[in-house]
Amino acid sequence: MKFVLATHNPGKLEEMSDILSQFDIEVVTLKDLGLTVDVEETGETFAENAMLKAKAISQAAALPAIADDSGLCVDALNGGPGVYSARYGGPELDDRGRYMLLLNSMRGQTTRAAHFTCSIACAFPNGDTLTAEGVCQGAIAFAPIGDGGFGYDPVFLLPEKAKTFGQLTPEEKAAVSHRGRALAEFAGKLGTYLKENPSK
Ligand code: IMP
Repeated sequence: MKFVLATHNPGKLEEMSDILSQFDIEVVTLKDLGLTVDVEETGETFAENAMLKAKAISQAAALPAIADDSGLCVDALNGGPGVYSARYGGPELDDRGRYMLLLNSMRGQTTRAAHFTCSIACAFPNGDTLTAEGVCQGAIAFAPIGDGGFGYDPVFLLPEKAKTFGQLTPEEKAAVSHRGRALAEFAGKLGTYLKENPSK
């Protein structure tokens, strides 16, 4: 069965394809299908935005679509940047600009606790949907370390490993990350769904 991954973000694409490659499904990208669908993320929660993306892409591609909406929630910033993580600081900033802005806004702050959340939504052309969520608790580092991953990875510290996400291999990150956890939950739900709906 063929699924389309509803994201243009190269970092997410790589992680999602890697993790989903363990399961018995064929995954294609929007690029493979020659589709450029931009979905406005107007939801107030990660789950709403993930579902908006999954439904829009499933309709456009006439295939089941898997979307991820995720972000970094920092306690000292009242949960921000949260659903605005990709747009933090405005469109002119790149990943490095965003995490440097985050470090600056945390200067002098001793409360460093933060977590990543990832909501996965899968929408089928017949209107069926599946959802899953994963959280990874950590802390904001005082300076960027490591150049692996994407987004805020160099400043997201896992205290139990004494390493940032940016210092982990893709496999190490997938084992503990919000996305790895959400996709593992999703895989279980998808397995059940496909058993109950063998014609899908
Ligand atoms: P969106 O889900 O497209 O709204 O984008 C989520 C944003 O959150 C990304 O562009 C990154 O800035 C950030 N983000 C989400 N997951 C990760 C991750 O695993 N590592 C680092 N940054 C992430």
